[in-house]
Parts: sequence; structure tokens; C-alpha cells
Amino acid sequence: MALAQADYYVPRTASITGARPLLDEAERAALVARIKALLKERDAALVAHYYVDASLQRIAEETGGFVSDSLEMARFGKEHPATTLVVAGVRFMGETAKILSPEKRVLMPTLEAECSLDLGCPADAFRAFCAEHPDRTVVVYSNTSVAVKALADYVVTSSIAVPLVTWLRDQGRKILWAPDRHLGDYIRRETGADMVLWDGSCVVHDEFRSRELEKLRKTHPAAAVLAHPESPRDVILQADVVGSTSQLIAAVQKRPESEFIVATDNRIFYKMQQAAPGKRLIEAPTGGHSATCRSCAHCPWMAMNDLSSLADTLEHGSNEIFVDEAERVKALVATQRMLDFAAAHRRRVVGDA
Ligand code: 13P
Ligand code: SF4
Repeated sequence: MALAQADYYVPRTASITGARPLLDEAERAALVARIKALLKERDAALVAHYYVDASLQRIAEETGGFVSDSLEMARFGKEHPATTLVVAGVRFMGETAKILSPEKRVLMPTLEAECSLDLGCPADAFRAFCAEHPDRTVVVYSNTSVAVKALADYVVTSSIAVPLVTWLRDQGRKILWAPDRHLGDYIRRETGADMVLWDGSCVVHDEFRSRELEKLRKTHPAAAVLAHPESPRDVILQADVVGSTSQLIAAVQKRPESEFIVATDNRIFYKMQQAAPGKRLIEAPTGGHSATCRSCAHCPWMAMNDLSSLADTLEHGSNEIFVDEAERVKALVATQRMLDFAAAHRRRVVGDA
């Protein structure tokens, strides 16, 4: 079953440790210019997640790359003509790009950027879990290894999980879900599907605190609460909008409120502010009065992506993603089913918060 957090290493968030040397303005500008030139020279496109540092998101935007949630990252990488994709995010995002585009070179600023959901769901243990439930359709979250995806019937991201499981439920299918227990619990409540859940969690979203959120809402009564579905149930139950990162950004833009309490990684504020410049964004609380936060609303692995590591990767072609071909082919079947479903049900999936 799922590994306890103590069984794998969670790096300290850079914002807590302040460990990385700070570049001055001129050094940053020179590095950004070098990265932009290298992207051209290497025929590379930069695909970034909303949780990476704003400086990387900006480069992706300014060079014809892309910033998005995990579903759209996968789609963009597959459709873009560049021969090299540089994925700024966590390892499963780079692996998904490779699953879909084996002919492309996929690089990452660091190969150490993991995800607690992926780490907490090793393929051997997951295979045994599946064997205990042979009558169930296996649906896994995109935040998993290639080996786990290879065991699945369907891969989903948070933006597509509810419509896809609803569709499976309507066919009378019973579901085996992994690895995030909060997202699984949310999907089960939304769809009424018969689901057994793997017991994994995200180290970032698991820290949002419902009691503290209740107090914060009292001091901001006009604010809408936005939550990513990897958050605990008591946080989700207080949310006005529950959705993927793209769906939460769309909510800030479309909803009438001028204040939002946001329960997801705070690097998403860069895109939210861009989408709705006049609106006030408030971080949902991660620690009670007596507790200190560990990740403090920023993924410690997403934080490993920085300008220096991106420049190094492009300079040396380092940190290339390689995956086992037999596993890739199996994982592709489950991943492609997600993309086909998304294409057929597009209006229900993207930005529909
Ligand atoms: P999204 O697919 O909503 O971008 O989420 C990815 C993720 O890792 C959230 O923690
Ligand atoms: Fe994984 Fe959580 Fe980081 Fe997302 S925020 S990549 S789910 S550890």
C-alpha cells in the first residue's frame, strides 16, 4: 500500500531554507537572454506548469512555449513541432511528454523533481493491489510513474477525472483509483461511483487546514474559496470552486467576487494575477496556531526548477527523460484514452469551473 511520508525524502522548500544563491538583476537578465537563445538554437519548446517560478513561466510565454495544467501540458507537447521539449515541472510531467512523443528529446531542468503521489505508489505494490480487485477498471492519476500508468486502463488528470469516472460509472464499471485519496474521495462523492482508493496524498495540499480556513473566511466574508481536489475533504467542503489548476484560474477570471482564498500551490498566483489583475488573492492557511508548515503552499519539487538549472539543461542537453519502451507502449494506451476522451468532451473538461 501507500508509503508513509517517512519512507521517502521530502526536500525542504527553497523558500524556507533560502538555500539557493540569489542572482542579481543583471545576472538574471543575462541568464534569461541565454535561455531564450538556446531554446531557438536547440529547436526546443519550454512547457511549464503553473507551480514553477514565475521567471520560468514568463520565458515559456515569451518564446512560444506553454504554461498550463498537466492535461494541457501533455497535449501541447504532443502537438508542438519542436524536436526537443523542455518540461519545467515534476518528473511525471516529463515522462508523460515522453510517453506521448517518443520521437522527441524530452529534457527537464532537474530529474530530482519528484511528486509525493508518485513516490507513494510504487509499481510492485500497486500491481498487488490491482490483483486483489480484478473486477475493477483501473483509473490512475497522471501523478504516477510510467510503470504504474502501464498497469492502468485509464490515466486522468484532475481536470478530467470527474467526467471520465462519471462516464465509466454510467457503463456500470467499478473503479480502482490511485494514488491520491483526497481526489479519489472527491471523485467518489461527485460521481457516486463504486471506488476503492489507494492511500496516497500530496504533501502540499494535504497541509491545508479546515479549522484555520473557517477562521480566515470569517475575516474575509466576501471572498470565494477555491480548492484543488488534492486538498482534504473538510477544506473541499468549504470551497465555492473545486478544480484543476486551469479551472481555478478560470474561476478567478470569470467569477464576480473581488477576493479569493486559494487552496493550492501559491506559484499559481502569477497566472491568476495575469488573468484577473484587479483581484485580491489570499493563501489558504497551511498550519494551525500550534503547527508549522512543511511545504508552506509551495511544492518543494516544483521549486527545484530555476533559471540556472534550465540554462544548464539547455546548454548541455542534460537531464533527458528515458522510459522503458514496453512500459511506455502500455502507458500510452491508458494516456491516449484520456486525451481522446478530453477531445470528445472538451466543453465539460477545460475551464468549466
Ligand atoms: P493540475 O493537473 O491541476 O495542474 O495538477 C497537477 C498537480 O500536481 C497538482 O498538485
Ligand atoms: Fe505532486 Fe503535490 Fe507537488 Fe503536485 S503539488 S507535484 S501533487 S507533490
